[in-house]
Amino acid sequence: MKSTTIERKREHLEICLHDKVEMERGAGFEHYRFLHEALPEIAPEDVELRTSFLGRELALPFIISSMTGGVERGLAINRHLAGAAKTLGIAMAVGSQRVALRHPEAAKSFAVVREVAPDIPVYANLGATQLNRGYSVLELGRAIDMIEADGLFLHLNPLQESIQERGNTDYRNLSERIGEVTGGLDRPVLVKEVGAGISPRTARLLADQGVAAIDVSGAGGTSWSKIEALRAEDAERRELGLAFADWGIPTAQSLVLCRAELPQLPLIASGGIRDGITAAKALALGADLVGLALPLLGAADQSQAAVEQVLKRFARELRLAMFLVGARDLEELRRGHHLVAELP
Ligand SMILES: Cc1cc2nc3c(=O)[nH]c(=O)nc-3n(C[C@H](O)[C@H](O)[C@H](O)COP(=O)(O)O)c2cc1C
Repeated sequence: MKSTTIERKREHLEICLHDKVEMERGAGFEHYRFLHEALPEIAPEDVELRTSFLGRELALPFIISSMTGGVERGLAINRHLAGAAKTLGIAMAVGSQRVALRHPEAAKSFAVVREVAPDIPVYANLGATQLNRGYSVLELGRAIDMIEADGLFLHLNPLQESIQERGNTDYRNLSERIGEVTGGLDRPVLVKEVGAGISPRTARLLADQGVAAIDVSGAGGTSWSKIEALRAEDAERRELGLAFADWGIPTAQSLVLCRAELPQLPLIASGGIRDGITAAKALALGADLVGLALPLLGAADQSQAAVEQVLKRFARELRLAMFLVGARDLEELRRGHHLVAELP
């Protein structure tokens, strides 16, 4: 099986595992601080982290964000991620399945997720620009069926595709194309960025087209502009990628703006969330779930137990933060006005 897509996926994994691919700037949560309650009036064991998302129950408000599949190393990574998601009762999304639609033999590295975790919410993933290149509900349905997905993420990545050689940058009338498929599939369509954030204008366009949820995937974590710069073979492309390495709406800002624009739409916060206190801030600012990608990649390259260790740390920190502000559940965390601006 020879494909430039497969080669590119392999390079992405290598670079993310071994190079410095995160932005210099923060994800915006550093501008907020929790108001500590010395009298929380609850005990830590009163804190309930269970939640529901698009009609499915989760033990923790976490989703493993789209990362991989289609390459050999991706099979083990997905197996470890899915095993941990199952044990902890959280949701998981796979990486872009375009490679497996072209090369059916690549499907097993995605399908392994459903084999390992038959009961958790699992989400398919494809690039939205494929809708401008001939994809219809047929291809989207095939991606969903490949992993018996509960829904499908369409990713928007205009910056990454602009730096990548021969990237798909035709975003003409894409919101309309998205609207055509949200009505034509029997599963929810979710839309995400890949680390540059969603503005309130984009969020409104997407909501008007019937998307079921948005993952803002903001700036402050993994930089796809930097990753493509590291892969670039010509100097101009590398320079352009580095110039935009920190581009985007910080995750906290994107989340706050999208929540104000769309008070009811399920929102996921991802991009630069690196500990449970930051996850707690995202949930307090209106996220329904928190998404993690890069912090799980190195662990997933090792073992399921290593992934579980990272997720358990996040859960411990989230639980303690909730105890210390006296929030019994995620609803109280969100409604309680527990965050204040960090002093300058
Ligand atoms: C190795 C790797 C591969 C990724 N592949 C995809 C992908 O195929 N599709 C997608 O929508 N996002 C992809 N992403 C983006 C993540 O889902 C996420 O939006 C982004 O990395 C921000 O989260 P983070 O800062 O926690 O890494 C990938 C991220 C990583 C680290």
